[in-house]
Amino acid sequence: MTALRLTDEEQALLNGAEGPGVQRAMDIVVTLGRIYDAAELVPIASAHISGVSYKNLGQAGLEFLHRWAEEGARARVDAWLNPMGMEAARWRELGFPADFAEPQLAVVEAFRRMGVTPTLSCTPYLLPGRVPPRGQHLAWAESSAVAFANSVLGARTNREGGPSALAAAIVGRTAGYGYHLDEGRQATHVVEVRCPLHDLADFGALGQIVGQKVGHGVPYFADLAQWLPPLPRDVTGGGQAVDRLKTLGAALAASGAVALFHIAGYTPEAADAGAALWQADAQPIIVDSLEAAYAAMNDASVLEIDLVSIGCPHASLAEIAQVADFLRRRQLRTRLWVTTARQTREQAVAEGWVQLIEAAGGRVVGDTCTVVAPLKILGIRSLATNAAKTACYAPSHSGVRVRFGSLQQCLEAAVTGQWSETPRD
Ligand code: F3S
Repeated sequence: MTALRLTDEEQALLNGAEGPGVQRAMDIVVTLGRIYDAAELVPIASAHISGVSYKNLGQAGLEFLHRWAEEGARARVDAWLNPMGMEAARWRELGFPADFAEPQLAVVEAFRRMGVTPTLSCTPYLLPGRVPPRGQHLAWAESSAVAFANSVLGARTNREGGPSALAAAIVGRTAGYGYHLDEGRQATHVVEVRCPLHDLADFGALGQIVGQKVGHGVPYFADLAQWLPPLPRDVTGGGQAVDRLKTLGAALAASGAVALFHIAGYTPEAADAGAALWQADAQPIIVDSLEAAYAAMNDASVLEIDLVSIGCPHASLAEIAQVADFLRRRQLRTRLWVTTARQTREQAVAEGWVQLIEAAGGRVVGDTCTVVAPLKILGIRSLATNAAKTACYAPSHSGVRVRFGSLQQCLEAAVTGQWSETPRD
């Protein structure tokens, strides 16, 4: 057992030198440090706070946030929010009732009082100015963003909970254990992929399979780089490499609890983190088919689709452009939501892509997603998606039945209102 060392300044915050709100935050961070045997706290550059939807927080969560704000708690580093349960600007038009919308807006206001920016997105790394550099320590709570930041960008964060990420923002530090340390970033499992990966959904299916097998482990993909174009220097626009990696990370984190993965010859720490394991002749996990994942994430009884959901994690500009391109001169029979960051939506408006999608009858929805929105209240019972994370979570979190397939299949379902199976290569 390591004793957690605090600096004089940290001890003073814990003793209440800056008031009860900061003391409460320091107490959370220090308690976690003691539970996880951290030797010290590490300064963080940013915090990404989840647990924003009123659907999950309820009145008790809202009152807790108000109390913390009343106590004078304020973020001392850049801090921003995961999606909430609706789009702020158009909740009435999208069918959300006022008795959900009003407390939801109050939640965001409580965060705003604490100095947290309402980005309301799970993909902060797609927002200009918020991409962390390699080696930077963070306190991020959204599991898909954690996987991307650790694995693709080489930043360092544990999977924080919503309250612990907020506490870390308030004190500017988090407990230094797990993925903050070199030893926590070593690969634990080698994975060999022996089937082709064509569509974005295939990366989600792969993540679903591997996540279940490795749980909290750190997978090292020995041969995945062949299915990935080079990563652009600027990841904020998305594109095939970025979108595939964010989808893979989200699925690994949802079906398992993966916070970091390595890809040989591709991700920044693969050479250091995987070589020993690879040379030690560890028994690899072989993935030679994705069929089991497609079967597990498809409810075969669903034929009529109430909502098609694209954008989990939140859609990049490149994904929005793809949807717009498909929908030129088409009209939709069923609801389509492309969920994305408000800021990304504004960029897509400037390109004319939102107008194309909405002219076809779809909606490019900011601030929320189909997992954290109260779908039952909106009368949605069945959903089609190309996102493995949505397919994993929506049945239990939103009470809907799900079809999972390629972007093309999902958009065809939006045009016809029906799911149709198409053979995969
Ligand atoms: Fe983001 Fe919602 Fe998916 S928060 S990762 S779009 S479940």
